[in-house]
Amino acid sequence: MSARLMARWSVTHGLIRLALNRSARQGNLDARLMVDPACQADPFPHYERLRERYPLAKGGMSWASVHHDVCTEVLRSDDFGVVRPDQELPASARAVLKVIGTRTSAGVIDPPSMLAVDPPDHTRYRKLVSRVFTARAVAALRERTAVVADELLDQLAGGERGEPVDLVAGYASLLPVTVISEILGVPVSMRDQFLHWGDGAAASLDLGLPWSRFQRSEADLDALHEWFLGHFARLRANPGQDILSQLVALVDEDGGRLSEPELSATALLLLGAGFETTVNLIGNGVAQLFAHPDQRAALADDPSLWPNAVEEVLRFDSPVQRTARRAKRDTELHGVPVQAGQVVVTLLGGANRDPRTFERPDRFDIHRANAREHVAFSSGIHYCLGAALAKMEAEVALGRLFERFPQLTPAGPAHRRPTRVLRGYDAMPVLTDARAVAH
Ligand code: HEM
Repeated sequence: MSARLMARWSVTHGLIRLALNRSARQGNLDARLMVDPACQADPFPHYERLRERYPLAKGGMSWASVHHDVCTEVLRSDDFGVVRPDQELPASARAVLKVIGTRTSAGVIDPPSMLAVDPPDHTRYRKLVSRVFTARAVAALRERTAVVADELLDQLAGGERGEPVDLVAGYASLLPVTVISEILGVPVSMRDQFLHWGDGAAASLDLGLPWSRFQRSEADLDALHEWFLGHFARLRANPGQDILSQLVALVDEDGGRLSEPELSATALLLLGAGFETTVNLIGNGVAQLFAHPDQRAALADDPSLWPNAVEEVLRFDSPVQRTARRAKRDTELHGVPVQAGQVVVTLLGGANRDPRTFERPDRFDIHRANAREHVAFSSGIHYCLGAALAKMEAEVALGRLFERFPQLTPAGPAHRRPTRVLRGYDAMPVLTDARAVAH
């Protein structure tokens, strides 16, 4: 074990873990949401207790809000900027980090990742990536996504012999990683490796990681970074038609191009965000439809309901439960002063259950007229760049799955991933044809 790595864990996660555990024991609800396993399984009653405080509740390390209007305002306001994990550490911890050094490769939420920078850097990165990530390009991918879905469903055929299969490992995780690998032009044959590395990238979003998960996450991020550097070198020598080849060659209007660390951070974010979230949307959708057979039947009768059903899954069981912003200057939210430097956690999963925006918010309803008002993709300048892709993938993935296996049924309890920011399943045993067992 490297002493440097252990020291880095202590100052970046270990101390925060101690503080969160203490805060949780003292009854802080947001801290409990981050460390208490019971809250992870079902955070929604805890959001309701946080809702009693308007506009802000005391968070584990900051302010927190589950109100739709407050979250939207924070995410859209120029008074707030991104949270950089290193900035939130006490001065003494930052001094230690300066001596021992940070990771050489940037993670998904470290600069220069688009998610972790404010304008003008953010504007530059986003403009460059948007140029090669257009809505038209996504629409053109629908047919190819359906082919990928059908191939994966063919491979799930074991279930047709009456054996349980894991829907996450065999379908929900493979579909998005295959599609994003094709878009980015990275080898699809490496998708199992990407899924493995991606778990580390997903864990790195959480605060106060235990040592073992931190170690794994750091190793995975380093491995991904190394792999991308080699890949960029290959693309420079031999460019293809894919998005990464275009990004490597792209020069913006001011003659600038992405530096190597910027390229690596952008590729990591696109790849990681491309599959670590959509797997949750597909899994959460299947779970809700298992729980609501009447709505599943309505979708079978009228497939044009799928787009709104996907919006409702995003609202009801949001794959990204929280993000946060830091006040750039002294400001106020609905009369409550927020000082420069203070952090507001926007609990997206809670805002999506706000009764002032959504009538009977705890009811899953694929017919809900305003389902798409959810903030599952955030709001403002960091609004998810892959939202159209994610929704298209989920519509195709869920539609094809239930059409192909009308008898699809759970074969035991599904298991939730251990992550807090991301919410989804890492295992879901199913029978693709319940009749095969009965006979
Ligand atoms: C169900 C699937 C997805 C969900 C729920 C989701 C959610 C989000 C959220 C909440 C943010 C903003 C975080 C913040 O405001 O701090 C975000 C940003 C982002 N997402 Fe997604 N995402 C999904 C799928 C995707 C996909 C498929 C891609 C594909 C490339 C993608 C790429 C990105 C990028 C690049 C950003 C950063 C945008 C920026 O900072 O300007 N996402 N996503």
